[in-house]
Amino acid sequence: MTSLITTPVRHRARFHTLTVTDVERLTDDAVAISFAIPDELADEFVFEPGQHLTLRATVNGQDVRRSYSICRSRPDALQRKELRVASARVAGGLMSNWINDSVVAGDRIEVMTPLGGFTCATQPHGIRHHVAIAAGSGITPVMSLLSTALAEEPASRATLIFGNRRTTSIMFLEELEDLKNEYPDRFHLINVLSREAQDVELFSGRIDRERLERILGALVPVQTVDEWYLCGPFGLVESAQVLLADLGVDSHHIHHEVFHVDDPDAPATPAEPVVSTPGEPAEAVVTVNLDGRTTVIEMPSRKESILAATLRARPDAPFSCTGGVCGTCRARLVEGEVRMDRNFALEPEEVAAGIVLACQSHPVTATVALDYDA
Ligand code: FES
Repeated sequence: MTSLITTPVRHRARFHTLTVTDVERLTDDAVAISFAIPDELADEFVFEPGQHLTLRATVNGQDVRRSYSICRSRPDALQRKELRVASARVAGGLMSNWINDSVVAGDRIEVMTPLGGFTCATQPHGIRHHVAIAAGSGITPVMSLLSTALAEEPASRATLIFGNRRTTSIMFLEELEDLKNEYPDRFHLINVLSREAQDVELFSGRIDRERLERILGALVPVQTVDEWYLCGPFGLVESAQVLLADLGVDSHHIHHEVFHVDDPDAPATPAEPVVSTPGEPAEAVVTVNLDGRTTVIEMPSRKESILAATLRARPDAPFSCTGGVCGTCRARLVEGEVRMDRNFALEPEEVAAGIVLACQSHPVTATVALDYDA
């Protein structure tokens, strides 16, 4: 039988239609949905804790894609033959409201195979201290990361510093309590609430640099930590990164993911298509290799993204957030030069190795070649 626990084989990301097996309400504004993984797709849905799934659906007549982090430990997913993601409602967000209001068990939804670099391989014989700093729905990948580490590394421990507005908005409250009960000596949970007073002043307020520095100083000495996981809004992730760097933590042990909101203003499909004027020379020519097939695309304007231009000729090109966050559109630059607007998905080493985000890339040179298969 194929196992979800093996090291992921690098498949091309592709959509499969999966059946929803369960919809659980986590808070008034968040649900978790589980998908059955049939045996014949088990290889393709092998995942690393911290990765995400992109869901695709037609909502209000629009083709919408959004990425949601897997929020179940790997051993649990393996046992159940299910993957689970969580979605918090965002005002005006097409996908998150549809998921929260309309999706029920038995629905069939297009789900892309797992992606994402917010991961850290487990070491079954390791003795490590994993520390996560998360806020709001930034907890979703962290649930999978920490619960997998606790299950697969019997000698390791984990600490979660978790910021929320109030108790009622805490996602996975019960499951976090279960983790504490299951691993009383190995899992430490520190709840920080910004709009609900707590007995300890240190835990009442937003997790900003000053509060985080005090929490670490009092409870989590940085020299005891082996791996750090940061997930939440940009401000939290950035200030934690700067603080850890100032405290001398090696950046190779700091894993981070910027909280991806279901931006109500984000277009369902990327960027404005730019129409070429007959007789006008193209500003750039992009050659794309995708699934072993090469396509040459003329770009009338370098203002549009390479992804937007590519989709005119290759609607099968992978994408999700179109905002430089999820990494679904990653490809290797094999010729020419591009400029990226923003990048929250790629590590500096990946950028140095020529990986780019097609949704954020614009040609700098007249000819550019991207390889999605490399
Ligand atoms: S589609 Fe998400 S980073 Fe490009």
